[in-house]
Amino acid sequence: MEKILVTGANGLVGRSLVRLLLQEGYLVVATGRGDSRLQADDPSLTYYPADITHPFELQLIMEKEKPAVVVHAAAMTQADDCELRQNDAHLCNVEATARLLMDAESFSAFFLFLSTDFVFDGKKGMYTETDAESPLSWYGSTKLEAEAIVQTTDMSWAIARTCLVYGPAAEQGRSNIFSWIKDNLQRQQPIKVVDDQWRTPTWVEDLVAGLLLIIRQRAMGIWHLGGPQATTPYQLALTIARHYRLDENLVTRVTAATFSQPAKRPLLTGFDISKARQHLGFSPGSIEENLAKIDA
Ligand SMILES: NC(=O)c1ccc[n+]([C@@H]2O[C@H](COP(=O)([O-])OP(=O)(O)OC[C@H]3O[C@@H](n4cnc5c(N)ncnc54)[C@H](OP(=O)(O)O)[C@@H]3O)[C@@H](O)[C@H]2O)c1
Repeated sequence: MEKILVTGANGLVGRSLVRLLLQEGYLVVATGRGDSRLQADDPSLTYYPADITHPFELQLIMEKEKPAVVVHAAAMTQADDCELRQNDAHLCNVEATARLLMDAESFSAFFLFLSTDFVFDGKKGMYTETDAESPLSWYGSTKLEAEAIVQTTDMSWAIARTCLVYGPAAEQGRSNIFSWIKDNLQRQQPIKVVDDQWRTPTWVEDLVAGLLLIIRQRAMGIWHLGGPQATTPYQLALTIARHYRLDENLVTRVTAATFSQPAKRPLLTGFDISKARQHLGFSPGSIEENLAKIDA
């Protein structure tokens, strides 16, 4: 069976992808910062702690493992951190991607890079793969710069852009929009949630199913993998509150101007996923369907 290397394996997307690839019978080489937080004990899984910004840690792993496919999910993903630590963000999101791509060129056949709706300025919304990018934040700029580097390679490549990914938080993992809303409401904590930023929230299991379709089909090019519904974080919070019969009155509707955050967020993003539906067979579920699956 084919060997696939996944960076960022301790992250929200990486750990779901590793789980799916193992289920599907792949040999998985998972890398993450520090010890493994993957709760998986599988003979097909090898984990290496590796810092992607290190000049040759990943190269040594690539030389040893020679994976057929590389999925690069590791990144500095917190937009405000990237804004405040621009050099670190560039090292991690751009320079490390360039180095990993060069390593992959020696050993691998296919490179899949994870990117973001933050490459857009949020004036239009429901973006297609051919819409012009114009990031507002340093995070978005670094991801776009890395996308451009990925596109220069002679090997087969794909870029999967995704948007507001949600799923259960890992025990030691960072929270995400779903776990943050649910945990606060369960603890009876009031939350302020913005109602003027539109997104197509993406269930992490749908996203990794889409990544698997790209890998299987060696589907080159840029792909928008998002959920099927456009909504705001505020509307999402109400949907979650109703689903779990939690107190909707704890959710206060605010606008983005309420918060002074270092990184500017695009107002209207969300993806038109027609291309992925048509060519990959990507078929994400509705938010309500996915909440029911989390509980099942
Ligand atoms: N989540 C979203 O809503 C979203 C939306 C659009 C695009 N994306 C993209 O999807 C990809 C996966 O994101 P995610 O949601 O899984 O984010 P995440 O949970 O923050 O995972 C990213 C992982 O990268 C690791 N990492 C960061 N710097 C590293 C370094 N120097 N060396 C090794 N590992 C490092 C982090 O390690 P630690 O756990 O130790 O910090 C983390 O486990 C990213 O490329 C992101 O840009 C995500």
